[in-house]
Amino acid sequence: MTDRLWGGRFGSGPSPELAALSRSTDVDWRLAEQDIAQTAAHVGVLAQVGLLQPDEVVLLTTALSDMTAELRAGTLRPQPQDEDVHTVIERELIARAGTAGARVRAGRSRNDQVATDLRLHCLAAAAALAGLMCDLATALLDQAEAAAAVPAPGFTHLQRAQPVTLGHELGKHVHAVLRDLDRLADWRVRCAVSPLGAGALAGSPFAVNPGQAAAQLGLPVAFANSIDAVSDRDFVAELLFVCALHGIHLSRIGEEITLWCSAEFGYARLDDAWSTGSSIMPQKKNPDIAELARGRSARLVGNLTTVLVLLKALPFGYNRDLQEDKPPLFDTLDTLQLTLPALTGCIRTLAFDVERLMAAAPAGHSLATEIADELARSGVPFAQAHEISGRLVAAAEARGVSLSALSAEECEAISPLLSPAVMAVATVETALARRTVPGGTAPQRVAEQLSAARTQVASRRAAWQDLMAAAPPSGRGQGR
Ligand code: ARG
Repeated sequence: MTDRLWGGRFGSGPSPELAALSRSTDVDWRLAEQDIAQTAAHVGVLAQVGLLQPDEVVLLTTALSDMTAELRAGTLRPQPQDEDVHTVIERELIARAGTAGARVRAGRSRNDQVATDLRLHCLAAAAALAGLMCDLATALLDQAEAAAAVPAPGFTHLQRAQPVTLGHELGKHVHAVLRDLDRLADWRVRCAVSPLGAGALAGSPFAVNPGQAAAQLGLPVAFANSIDAVSDRDFVAELLFVCALHGIHLSRIGEEITLWCSAEFGYARLDDAWSTGSSIMPQKKNPDIAELARGRSARLVGNLTTVLVLLKALPFGYNRDLQEDKPPLFDTLDTLQLTLPALTGCIRTLAFDVERLMAAAPAGHSLATEIADELARSGVPFAQAHEISGRLVAAAEARGVSLSALSAEECEAISPLLSPAVMAVATVETALARRTVPGGTAPQRVAEQLSAARTQVASRRAAWQDLMAAAPPSGRGQGR
């Protein structure tokens, strides 16, 4: 026997070049815990059909649980000659359980094995990710609730548009994150399918009840088509999409923080522990976390693209190309694991300049719509009201003053409809108070939105925690 999982029909061992190209332990070692767990499930399958005797099962089960402990302690490691994680686990099993260990490969291929490991790993990683997403949403909610009634300028086209509350502005990001959490929950159902028992492609002759092995791994169902089971990586592509879109959301948050913390906006200040300096300009305080969150979204999109291209036009069951799914997947998971806590801390410690935000809220004639709305309310067709308010803006702009600085005579001259009563609505307070549409910017509505969002975040968090509590230990960790 060789130290490889194959060799009988070969006259020589692999060339060093092939071995180097083929070796994947540096990438797939993080699947070791899942590989041990599914080996335990497979031992149960073989015992059921009499391929393993009860004493052998005891021997193997002990060996596998020792291996898990050593793996967690960091003492079980791949050797340089090991081709992949599956080779290490089988080699170790044979070293510890002898012939019994050598029997375990029956009815199982690395093709169903790697697909099973990867699904289990993705599920555990997604649970961790969901927790981090909930932390981010909570930091946003905390800041938003404190600022539920703080007036701020609202933008369209990055031009001052209408006043909003800062809580409303911050709260919008929570909804994007909530959709990401929903997508993750939706994806989970399709990912939680066990390929174990599919064998190389045709199905194992020994797996009488793949559903039972699936249940042992915490997966509610087993594969429906064994060829699909070994070749399907939709769950990887889908998870990468959910992560890429989440990354896009983080980039938009990052962009806003960057703008807010510029001297030009000056809406917020970064905490010292969550910002960086310059090597040459002593005065600098840079929003690196926000920038990295923005920049790293590029990798997440790239990783999704890599996997989609990898899958394109792959023929029939398993192809070795599929090994290339792991580097982009793991890179995306690692990127979010690093980015999310940093961005969460950066947001949690942002100090908003309430005075400046309040002063900026009515600037740029952002109350012009109030005047048009008020005229419309009194029966003036909106198209005409818009025109009149526009002329008011032109007059204010010509004089370099705000709308409210125009005298009653000046207003009257623009249009007799611009009475002092109409002009009186042009305040930030009125503008905010009148936006009582559910989901709108009126402070009371904002408070309601935020409290509803908080409940939703808590329920998403609890759902993932429940799932993890119900999962077998091997499915709970990050498997790193
Ligand atoms: N390392 C492979 C992967 O990640 C698993 C082994 C595939 N099977 C094989 N016969 N080489 O997909």
